[in-house]
Amino acid sequence: MTSATSALSASAHSAVVTGASTGIGEATVRALRARGWTVYAVARRAARLEALAAETGAVAVAADITEDGDVERLLAHVTAGGGIDTLVNIAGGARGADPVGEARTEDWEWMYRVNVIGTMKVTRAFLPMLRAHGEGTVLNLTSTAAIVSYEGGGGYNAAKFAERGMTQALRLEEVGHNLRVIEVLPGLVQTEEFALNRLGDPDAAEKVYAGVAKPLTAGDVADVVAYAVTLPHHVNLDEIVMRPVAQAAAHKVIRNA
Ligand SMILES: NC(=O)c1ccc[n+]([C@@H]2O[C@H](COP(=O)([O-])OP(=O)(O)OC[C@H]3O[C@@H](n4cnc5c(N)ncnc54)[C@H](OP(=O)(O)O)[C@@H]3O)[C@@H](O)[C@H]2O)c1
Repeated sequence: MTSATSALSASAHSAVVTGASTGIGEATVRALRARGWTVYAVARRAARLEALAAETGAVAVAADITEDGDVERLLAHVTAGGGIDTLVNIAGGARGADPVGEARTEDWEWMYRVNVIGTMKVTRAFLPMLRAHGEGTVLNLTSTAAIVSYEGGGGYNAAKFAERGMTQALRLEEVGHNLRVIEVLPGLVQTEEFALNRLGDPDAAEKVYAGVAKPLTAGDVADVVAYAVTLPHHVNLDEIVMRPVAQAAAHKVIRNA
């Protein structure tokens, strides 16, 4: 172990969770704090992180994962705090649902930048610390959109397929450092902001979940994330696909009128 990680005992885990200001990331911070972990909660909106920190005892670090300076500052903050053994990359999202023929370049660039480049930048920054720990874990939150495309999903599919491809390469590259790489691929999850940010208005966002008896909640996904990262380190749930029962496949969702 390095001095950066020596503060961690075998039973005391410590994680960076990105995307922590809302939705699945916020729920994951709560789930890991409930299990006694030290958690660095990362997103751009500082006020939301501060409120979460005050409530849960997490450490708030406002940062844009796509900005090199912010990622450097995050790494310095975490290093000064004693380091981590687990990186949970949840920050991401979708913009637009246009077919490829009408794709808005700025939406595609945004999706690639946050889901792929941002995840890469944070992972790259923390890899030396995770390798040095000796029993590190990286968990990437991709999506079922990373395994099956759908009409209007092209940009999001492309970004999540790419994030998944990077995750698979990372697992192969880092196994020699005893790094565990987990991918969680959720289907329909009802969070406050995901569909709203994607589609831009509340009515369109509401339709995504309309009539679905029980979409997954952020808490459902957070429980699975927490389970996967708290298993003994030699156990790797390397790919976890999870959907609500009503969603048998991307194109087969039971909706009651
Ligand atoms: N909801 C679903 O149906 C669903 C299904 C499968 C997979 N997913 C994936 O699961 C993840 C979380 O989904 P969600 O529904 O919880 O999304 P969400 O509610 O839209 O939350 C996205 C989070 O990412 C953060 N974020 C966005 N850009 C960032 C940046 N540049 N730097 C740092 N943080 C950034 C946001 O915080 P700030 O705005 O404060 O920065 C927010 O905390 C995403 O990767 C999403 O693609 C979602």
